[in-house]
Amino acid sequence: MCGIVGYIGHRNSIPILIEGLKRLEYRGYDSAGLGIIRENACTVIKQEGKVSQLEDKIEKEKISSPLGIAHTRWATHGVPNEINAHPHVNSSGKLCLVHNGIIENYAVLKIGLQKQGYEFYSETDTEVLVKLIDTFLKMKNNLFDAVRFALNKVEGTYGIAVTSADEPDKIVVAKKGSPLVIGIGDDENFIASDVNALIAHTSQVVYLEDGEIAAVYNNKFEAKTIEDEEIEKEIQQVAFDIEDISKGEFPHFMLKEIMEQPGSVKNSFRGRLLFEEGSSKLGGLQGYEDRISQSRRIIICACGTSWHAALVAEYMIEQFARIPVEVEYASEFRYRNPVLTPEDTCIFISQSGETADTLAAMKEAKRRGALVLGVCNVVGSSIARESEAGVYIHAGPEIGVASTKAFTSQLVVLALITVLIARRRHMSIIDGQNILRELDLIPGKIAEILQQNDKIKEIAQNFINAKNFLYLGRGYNFPVALEGALKLKEISYIHAEGYPAAEMKHGPIALIDNNMPSVFITPKDSVYEKVISNIEEVKARNGKILAIACTSDDKIDSLVDYAIKIPDTMRIFMPLLTVIPLQLLAYHIAVGKGLNVDQPRNLAKSVTVE
Ligand code: G6P
Repeated sequence: MCGIVGYIGHRNSIPILIEGLKRLEYRGYDSAGLGIIRENACTVIKQEGKVSQLEDKIEKEKISSPLGIAHTRWATHGVPNEINAHPHVNSSGKLCLVHNGIIENYAVLKIGLQKQGYEFYSETDTEVLVKLIDTFLKMKNNLFDAVRFALNKVEGTYGIAVTSADEPDKIVVAKKGSPLVIGIGDDENFIASDVNALIAHTSQVVYLEDGEIAAVYNNKFEAKTIEDEEIEKEIQQVAFDIEDISKGEFPHFMLKEIMEQPGSVKNSFRGRLLFEEGSSKLGGLQGYEDRISQSRRIIICACGTSWHAALVAEYMIEQFARIPVEVEYASEFRYRNPVLTPEDTCIFISQSGETADTLAAMKEAKRRGALVLGVCNVVGSSIARESEAGVYIHAGPEIGVASTKAFTSQLVVLALITVLIARRRHMSIIDGQNILRELDLIPGKIAEILQQNDKIKEIAQNFINAKNFLYLGRGYNFPVALEGALKLKEISYIHAEGYPAAEMKHGPIALIDNNMPSVFITPKDSVYEKVISNIEEVKARNGKILAIACTSDDKIDSLVDYAIKIPDTMRIFMPLLTVIPLQLLAYHIAVGKGLNVDQPRNLAKSVTVE
C-alpha cells in the first residue's frame, strides 16, 4: 500500500522518480507527489489522481535535481487529495518525507506537537511524523539522528524516506513493517518500497529489516538500528529483469499474467519433483520435514486470493496427509486467542510477502511456539524473512492487482508440500509418483484452456450488464468458486458470490431469475450428478448458466447456456485448471465494461496496513 521511490546521484532524478512511481502504482494510485532538493531548498509537487497526471504537471515546471523522493498513495488517513498526498514537509519546507504505513499514535503525538506551537495543514499521520522529526532536527542538527530519535517515539508501521535541504548529500530511509529496499548503482543510489521500481537501473539491492535506518549517499550507504547499533548489510542480486515487469505485447498485466501460467506453474515445480521416490524436494523446508509431518494440526493463514489457495490446501492435506487442517483469515487469527502448541505447524501464504495482517498473524504464531512456514512469491519479502522455513512459489513478478498466476503457483507449491508430508505418513510411492506425473502435465493442460481465450471473450460479452453473479462448486472447486467470484468483483465491480453448490438451496436460490447468471464448476467427479441437479434447479428458475466442465462431458452442453471445456485431471489439480476460464471471464467482462483491470478502484496489490 503506497509506493516510495528515491534517487541520489549524477542524473536528473525526476524521470527516474516518475518511472519508478509508475512501476509502483499497483501499490496505490489515488494521488502522487515528489520532493526534490535544488538551490538549498525543497520543491514539492503533488497531484490527486494517477502518476501520469503528476507527470503532466511536472513537465510544465521545467525543473531538475539530482536528489529526490516520491510517493504514490493509497489513502488511509485523509481523503485522496493534493493536500494529503505525500511528500509532507515541516514549516520551513526544508524537511521532506514520504511514508508507507500507519503511525498509530499520531493523534497523541499531534497534540504534543500542537502544544509546542506546530500547525497542521493535512489530515495525515505522515505530517505528524515529519513535524516530530523537525523537533529533533532542531535539537540534534543532524538529519540521521533526528529521524532515528523520532522513530523511537513512534508506534505503528513505516517505510520512510526523508530529505533535508540543509543536508543535500543524503536520503535517510527506515523500515518497520513496510518494505524498503536500497538499490546500489554506480555513483548513484536508489531507494524504493519494491525492487520493481529500481530494476531498470540496478540488480544489486539491500533489504532493510524492521527497526533499521540508513543514510543513502550517491556513492555509499550507512546503516544502523534505530537503537543506534552498528549493522552490516549484505548486498543481494535480484533474480529477475525489466522484461519480467513489462507488459510486452499484452494490453494489460493481468492478461499477460494469465497467459504466462503454463510457464509460471512449471517454474513452481521445476527441480522439485523426485519421481523415483514419489516425493518432492523443497530446499526451504530441509531439516523441518519431520516436525511438519508429525504436526498435530496444520493451520493456514492468508488473505484474499492467497486465502482461497489455503482452502484448496485444506482439501489436499487432509485427503493425502491425513493431518487436520484449519484455514483462517490472517486478520481474524491475529486478534483472537488462538490455541497453538509447538506441535502445530502454521503456514502463511502471501504473494507479496508484505500483507500486514498475514505478517502480524505469523509473528503471533511464532510467539506462541508453533512452527511457522511461509509460502511467498516475492523473494526477500518480510513474511519470507520472518518465517522459520518456507517455500518460494517462483511465479515471477505479479503486477496486476487481481492475483492470477500467483494463485496457481501457490496451489502447485501447496501440492508439493502435501506430497512431501504424505509420503512421510501414509502415501504409497505409486500414489506419490502418479501425482507428480500428473503435475508434470498440468502446464500443457493450462495451455489448452488458454487457447479458448477468444471463445471466453465472446461468452463474456453476454454478461457485461449483469449486476450480480453466483459461482458454485464443490469439494476442491468450492474455493475456486470463491476465487472466481472475487476476480469478478475486484475488476468488474459486479457483485458476485461464491458458494458450495449444495448450499445454494439454503438461500442464494432466492436470488435466481433470468437476470442473475450462475457459473457452475462441474468436473466429472463423485459429486457430478449432484451438481447437475443444482443446475436443473437454476434452470427451472430461468437462471442463465455458464458451466466449466470436462472435455469428456457431452451431456453438459444441452443443459446449460454456455460451456467452457477443460481437460480431465486428478481432483487435487482440478483447481489449477478450473480457475483459468474464470480468470479470463472476469478479465473480459471488465475490459468489455471499459474498466482499468490492472488498477481497479479502491484496491491495492500489497496491503501493508490493517
Ligand atoms: C490484496 C490483493 C489481492 C491479494 C491479497 C493478499 O487484497 O489485491 O490480490 O490476494 O491482498 O495478498 P498477498 O500478497 O498476501 O497474497
